[in-house]
Amino acid sequence: MLSVCLLFLFSLEAFAQNLTVKHKLKIISAGLCLLPFFWACDGAKESASPVEAQVENLLKRMTLREKIGQMNQVSLGNVDELAVAVENGEIGSMLNVTDPELVNRLQRIAVEKSRLGIPVLMSRDVIHGYRTIFPIPLGQAATFNPQLVEDGARVAAIEASSDGIRWTFAPMIDVSRDARWGRMAESCGEDPYLNAVMGVAMVKGFQGNSLDNATSIAACAKHFVGYGASEAGKDYNSTFIPERTLRNVYLPPFEAVAKAGCATFMTSFNDNDGVPSTGNTFILKDVLRNEWNYDGMVVTDWASATEMIPHGFCKDRKEVAEKAVNAGVDMEMVSGAFLENLEKLVKEGKVSEKSIDNAVCNILRLKYRLGLFDAPYVTTGQSVNYAPEHLAKAKEAVEQSVILLKNDKNVLPLGGNVRTIAVVGPMADAPHDQLGTWAFDGEKSHTQTPLAALREMYGDKVQIVYEQGLAYSRDKRTDGIYKAVSVARKADVVLAFVGEEAILSGEAHSLADINLRGAQKQLIDALSNIGKPLVTVIMAGRPLTIGDEVEKSDAVLYSFHPGTMGGPALADILFGKVVPSGKTPVTFPKMVGQLPIYYAHNHTGRAPSGKETLIDDIPQEAGQTSLGCTSFYMDAGFGPLFPFGYGLSYTTFNYDKMALSAGKLKKDGTLTVTVDLTNTGKYAGTEIVQLYVRDKVGTVTRPVKELKGFQRITLQPGEVKSVRFDLPVSDLSFWNIDMKKVVEPGEFTVWIGTNSDEGLSADFEVVD
Ligand code: NOJ
Repeated sequence: MLSVCLLFLFSLEAFAQNLTVKHKLKIISAGLCLLPFFWACDGAKESASPVEAQVENLLKRMTLREKIGQMNQVSLGNVDELAVAVENGEIGSMLNVTDPELVNRLQRIAVEKSRLGIPVLMSRDVIHGYRTIFPIPLGQAATFNPQLVEDGARVAAIEASSDGIRWTFAPMIDVSRDARWGRMAESCGEDPYLNAVMGVAMVKGFQGNSLDNATSIAACAKHFVGYGASEAGKDYNSTFIPERTLRNVYLPPFEAVAKAGCATFMTSFNDNDGVPSTGNTFILKDVLRNEWNYDGMVVTDWASATEMIPHGFCKDRKEVAEKAVNAGVDMEMVSGAFLENLEKLVKEGKVSEKSIDNAVCNILRLKYRLGLFDAPYVTTGQSVNYAPEHLAKAKEAVEQSVILLKNDKNVLPLGGNVRTIAVVGPMADAPHDQLGTWAFDGEKSHTQTPLAALREMYGDKVQIVYEQGLAYSRDKRTDGIYKAVSVARKADVVLAFVGEEAILSGEAHSLADINLRGAQKQLIDALSNIGKPLVTVIMAGRPLTIGDEVEKSDAVLYSFHPGTMGGPALADILFGKVVPSGKTPVTFPKMVGQLPIYYAHNHTGRAPSGKETLIDDIPQEAGQTSLGCTSFYMDAGFGPLFPFGYGLSYTTFNYDKMALSAGKLKKDGTLTVTVDLTNTGKYAGTEIVQLYVRDKVGTVTRPVKELKGFQRITLQPGEVKSVRFDLPVSDLSFWNIDMKKVVEPGEFTVWIGTNSDEGLSADFEVVD
């Protein structure tokens, strides 16, 4: 369209200037020549920016082989072989090259020796930090603080780009509702809205103000799409997500990051309803390109293209290339089927050269946007890794991500009466494991553990005695427990650091049992029997089933693997220098059998109400009853261990005087909801105020509650603040019975509260 307009203006101008007919014709024909220039790349139809002109210009000079070379991504391997392939124009991107000298060496070959001098795009999984490791994404989500999450991604980008990395495979915004799935650790939890907000924050942080800044790295929204719904929480498993659920639950975070300018998308491993994402035209073309007008680049996951063969979706590598490119994939990660087969497929007419051109435009556009043609090399010898301000930001992220699950008799924070502290447990001094999954470049020598931090920061105030008890989280030997108990007997308070090692979560690390492993249960049990206050600190990659441990502990702090600065942050929280404010980004199950579990489930016909009748309440040989006729488990009861959005503070908050701006609204209206929040306790603290809605009746059944907003509010003791949310009615839209995204008129309930299970509520109506 724009090109047509340009041509029109161009022509007008020509006539207006009273030129000779010969001149006018010359100018118009020059304009006509530019038309294909602007139309060659599908994604750029609307744009005639300098980048598009550069892309088109370069595309015209490329051979088919060179174009296909750009669509090929390889991992670091034999450097000499890589160098030859780069020189031949057979590599568009590399992953896992993190030595800046090597980055420059390979880049110099691409720029100075390959025929067209197209730079290679260097990529890496920089997921929750590069060298300075931040809490795992699930922990970052627990902060409910998008600014802090953006800052963390910025730090990661600054560090990674200083080693020559210009593309990361993050954010991972797979809605994750099954804690058996090891990759829940990498996500922002169970909620579409929270994943969208945090995903956008990460994109902003990685990409900075402008992609062509040397410290900006391109983000990659993954895994597109539905991977988090892998059946039974088993990694790589199939998913069965109907289109409406896909659109209402799994796609919104991706749409949000696409709109926020996320430079790339990655196809997921799963087949949804029989179609692997890497060959799924519906998601890659119909939704991503046509509905969302996305002009970024799409890469496959690692070998997810050739995995369409074991999926039984393609018969061989040639068909892989055909199906993936025709579905809308631009670049293939590591499996080489494109390079091997696309030339043949074009000759045979099975893949059009237009499809190849589109893919290459998307790739080149990214390289131009990153400024790689102007500045292909990284400045070496200027390490910014572990800069003090990076460590400080990482500490702040942990401080806000730790969740206080229990605090009986205000055991925490540790007070002046505490003289001796026993530190026990396998996670107290586990510098590798507290980094969590996907921390390839984090070095344990830089990790600050709780034991080290307590000694360093509070060792002059209290005596710290340490006995590990168990060597690691899966350690089944119980002999160490006796030693831990005898040390604990000498202390005023026991701090037990338990959880799971980094390797127990992440890709390919799903679990069917999410209890504490090894002899950790026995450790907590033994410690709880000695009559000393027991504070349990849990570091993990997922919500574990910790009902017993919560019961036996006086206080429980939950820290998703906290990264480099876990120790100092936890030490300050334990001693009250920092007041915890994190909230659960996922529902904590009581038992693994409740999974998948999430607060925003649809209304059933038989919602639990009244008294729970549990398994031991049922008399022997009882006649068949429907136990109150509700949807629940006889052994686990109605609810979870902790609901979504839950977390305590050292202070207390009171919600009062909820008010709505109107009882009836039109579809283009905005509802303002206010509430008075008071800090009723003794500490200054931060509350995450949450707003949920329920659409009472729809053309399809709707979730019982959906998060639509949250705010972090910090108050001094006794301070009151009126908290205000403006909720556009358009935010109540959903994909309805006609598969249309609409707001359906009718009655709604809105809650403001401290978690997804509690809060003040009021009703309102939306009218046509
Ligand atoms: C496979 C993982 O699924 C993906 O998340 C990651 O980015 C790639 N490998 C590259 O390492």
